[in-house]
Amino acid sequence: MAEELIVAQGGKTEKYEVLYRQIVALVEGESDDIACMANMAAMIHSTFHFWWTGFYRVVGEELVLSPFQGDLACSRIKYGRGVCGTAWKMQATQVVEDVEQFPGHIACSSLSRSEIVVPVWRGGEIMAVLDIDSEHLATFDEVDKLWLERIVKLFDR
Ligand code: SME
Repeated sequence: MAEELIVAQGGKTEKYEVLYRQIVALVEGESDDIACMANMAAMIHSTFHFWWTGFYRVVGEELVLSPFQGDLACSRIKYGRGVCGTAWKMQATQVVEDVEQFPGHIACSSLSRSEIVVPVWRGGEIMAVLDIDSEHLATFDEVDKLWLERIVKLFDR
C-alpha cells in the first residue's frame, strides 16, 4: 500500500470508491487485524473529517475500545448498550440521525450529533463494530451504510 492517502474530488460516492480501493490494497498486504483497523480508521477519518472514527472489538461479553481517530472514548461497552452494543445485539448496522433520539445512546463526546455503527463479521460471528460519529445531525445515509459495510467485509477472511 502506498503510504499517502489519496482523497478523490467530488461527492461521497467518488470518495468512497477511491478510499475502498486503497483499503483493499491495505488489507491484502497486512494480516494483522489491529494494524488494519488502525489504518482503516485513519483513512476513513482523513477522507471525510468525521468527528470520531474507530473500532470496538468483541471481547467476551463486552466491546473493547480498539484503534480509533478522535478524542478519547469509553473503553468498554456492554452487549446491547448504546448504539454500538445495539448494532452487536441486533446484528445490523445502526444509522442514527440524531443521537439524542436514540434511547441509551452513550455520549462519549457532547459534540457528537449523529452516528453510524457497522458490525464487522468473520466466519458468521461479529468480531467488532466500526463506529463513526459526526458533530452534525443526519450525516450518515444509505451511501455510507453501503460502503462501510463493504469495507468491513474485508475482515471476513
Ligand atoms: N456513542 C457510542 C459510544 C462510543 S463513542 O461514540 C466513541 C454508543 O452509543 O454506543
